[in-house]
Amino acid sequence: MRIVFANDHAAFEARVALIEHLRDLGHEVLDCGTSTKESVDYPCVVVPAIKALREGAVDRIVLMCGSGLGVSIAANRYEGIRCALCTDEYAAEMSRRHNNANAIALRAREQDPAMNIRVLDKWLTTDYEGGRHQRRVELIDSMPKNEKF
Ligand code: RB5
Repeated sequence: MRIVFANDHAAFEARVALIEHLRDLGHEVLDCGTSTKESVDYPCVVVPAIKALREGAVDRIVLMCGSGLGVSIAANRYEGIRCALCTDEYAAEMSRRHNNANAIALRAREQDPAMNIRVLDKWLTTDYEGGRHQRRVELIDSMPKNEKF
């Protein structure tokens, strides 16, 4: 799979093992950084990753920040992005089976690095079920254009 990886400074250490793991599995990783502890704003780091997906350069997005929350909230502002914050394997599995998540947000702080590996593996190996979920996923994707209450 072609995967773009993007993170803020809070994940500059945690990212290393995850990218290495993805490459060991044979995935092609486009690394958008950041790779240093110099502070960067998480709403900005998601942008090149989303561009890469939209341009068809990658199949999936992996995002990381301290809590995973900031990057997931930011990514979900973009049309066509279904980003799931996953801190356990159940969330990773369901985000694929039911929500067809094309982006995952991982937590760098207060999280066992081995758990993040398991979460990522589950997310990458679980297929979308389609069927009754398709209409709901389409409703999600239509939401930014459908803001009349
Ligand atoms: C950075 O300190 C931290 O706020 C960021 O990584 C993230 O957790 C925000 O949601």
